[in-house]
Amino acid sequence: MQKHNFSAGPCVLPQEVLQKASQAILDFDNGLSLIEISHRSKPFVDVMEQARALALELLGLEGKGYKALFLQGGASTQFLMVAQNLLEKRAAYLNTGTWADKAIKEAKIFDDILEVASSKDANYNYIPKGFEIPEDHDYFHCTSNNTIFGTQIKKFPNSPIPMVCDMSSDIFSRTLDFSKFDLIYAGAQKNMGPAGTTLVVVKEDILGKVSRKIPSMLDYKVHIDKSSMFNTPPVFAVYTSMLTLQWLKDLGGIAAIEKENEKKSRLMYSEIDLNPLFKGFAAKEDRSDMNATFTLVNEDLKETFDTMWKDAGINGLNGHRSVGGYRASMYNALSLDSVKVLVEVMSELESKA
Ligand SMILES: Cc1ncc(COP(=O)(O)O)c(C=O)c1O
Repeated sequence: MQKHNFSAGPCVLPQEVLQKASQAILDFDNGLSLIEISHRSKPFVDVMEQARALALELLGLEGKGYKALFLQGGASTQFLMVAQNLLEKRAAYLNTGTWADKAIKEAKIFDDILEVASSKDANYNYIPKGFEIPEDHDYFHCTSNNTIFGTQIKKFPNSPIPMVCDMSSDIFSRTLDFSKFDLIYAGAQKNMGPAGTTLVVVKEDILGKVSRKIPSMLDYKVHIDKSSMFNTPPVFAVYTSMLTLQWLKDLGGIAAIEKENEKKSRLMYSEIDLNPLFKGFAAKEDRSDMNATFTLVNEDLKETFDTMWKDAGINGLNGHRSVGGYRASMYNALSLDSVKVLVEVMSELESKA
């Protein structure tokens, strides 16, 4: 039976990427597996260089002073690396959800943090607007897409200080002027590949301005100097990410996938809005194109609905415990057909109820 994978991450990846990646496990270079050759061998160095170049190319950041790195420790390690590398006096953070809150907690280890705005008062169901970013802070940090709550920043502020963004759950999904950002990070396990590597895209000229000593593994400059090969990189995660970036480029890049993502989210939200059995969680103007969060109006229908979507081959639809209900994650590799299947199940429930 065909599966429709709505998981929030790790999540659906393109079938052709999975096929190529599994083939490389068996035979990548003259009968040797990708995971048994040296990471210093030319075939793997080429993979790393291609992955780094593709990331910059897709984001439109080639030749603009940025470096792309594939690091380890998940996006969660970036919560502390950002502060350790950039925070000298004080930094400004926008609190839009669990992940932003965790980033703030880690940064507080290094210094005092200003929360410019927060939507915690409404269980993070909206994106605060109209806040000021103070000019005398070291950087401004935001989270472009709030995976758990299903909200997404649609219009980024013009920051007078370097802007850092956690794009873990919507990188490569929509066109943006990425040069507005000075540092972007994203765990691979949504729109790129398996867990195990984190893409960091950093503008070199924002580095080297803090006075503290930074351990080598946590120092962006060290990783830049060593071309993202300071220590043994997670070769499989980097290779698979490279394949996904190549797949995206062949499709026509971010502009092409954005059109598909818009079709999927439009279909999904129109069903949520038109079907009286369901209610959307996030404020309409801030709805995420990646993660649609919704609940049943009448919880008595839960058992029936859960059986119906599982029988339709749908996987990973349960919402996060802090929101409840359901979350349909519609990352780049999820097809419009999968969304159609879910929407059909929802309207079938309506006709049954
Ligand atoms: C927006 C966002 N930031 C950070 C994280 C944490 O990522 P990791 O598990 O790679 O540390 C996640 C995980 O889902 C996320 O969605």
